[in-house]
Amino acid sequence: MTPSFQSLEKIPRHVALIMDGNGRWAQERGLSRIEGHKEGAQSVRAVLRAAAKAGVEFITVYAFSTENWKRPPQEVEGLMKLLVSSLEAYEQELHDNQIRLRVMGQFDRLPLLVRKRLQKTLDATAHYTGHTFIIALSYGSRVEIAEAAKQIAVKVQAGELAAKDIDEQTVADHLYLPDVPDPELLIRTSGELRLSNFLLWQLSYAEFHITDTYWPDFREEQFFQALEAFNGRNRRYGGMEK
Ligand code: FPP
Repeated sequence: MTPSFQSLEKIPRHVALIMDGNGRWAQERGLSRIEGHKEGAQSVRAVLRAAAKAGVEFITVYAFSTENWKRPPQEVEGLMKLLVSSLEAYEQELHDNQIRLRVMGQFDRLPLLVRKRLQKTLDATAHYTGHTFIIALSYGSRVEIAEAAKQIAVKVQAGELAAKDIDEQTVADHLYLPDVPDPELLIRTSGELRLSNFLLWQLSYAEFHITDTYWPDFREEQFFQALEAFNGRNRRYGGMEK
């Protein structure tokens, strides 16, 4: 049965996803880890389509963390290649649904080929305003916050900003994508209860949806279930129940 996104009362503007379990999915089938990541790339596509259907404006996926550089070189290389081929494969999907691609993370650390392929799609979709697909690549939240602190310190040193005027908004304004609203919903697959250095600042008030499903098995139906669960939550932002 196709899920009816229209039946949902509230649709989060921004959904962030920690795509975990590709390795275990592959292992259980006697496949290589990269096969798991490949199947996971199909899930990314399914979620993009479902999000556009549901009217979610922003989707952020954690594709490669700063810590992921420590994985075996073969896996890192496989993931980078997969990223390039996936961008190729998603391109039509992005145009059909008028989705803008953006990236967050240490862009300069990525291999030249990956940067070039990303830049091509970034430029080709830059004019779309309705939906945004954000890929966190070589991303680490602590690095992001430390970088923001550095930029603020430079401004203070240059006399452009007074230390007494630094507040939450100042920090938020110096993160990678200051114009993107904070995610209202975080989905993590494969049952782990960790944030893994993902959007620590931006997820302060997000609802969490943890599912045991491995990422390669997470498709439209599972995305719908996550939105349904979100609909059952009462968001209070630290205030009183209404
Ligand atoms: C975590 O699973 C997943 C990753 C580190 C990579 C996620 C990447 C993709 C889904 C590839 C395509 C992405 C895009 C945006 C094209 P894991 O390897 O840690 O799984 P495990 O915990 O079961 O070992």
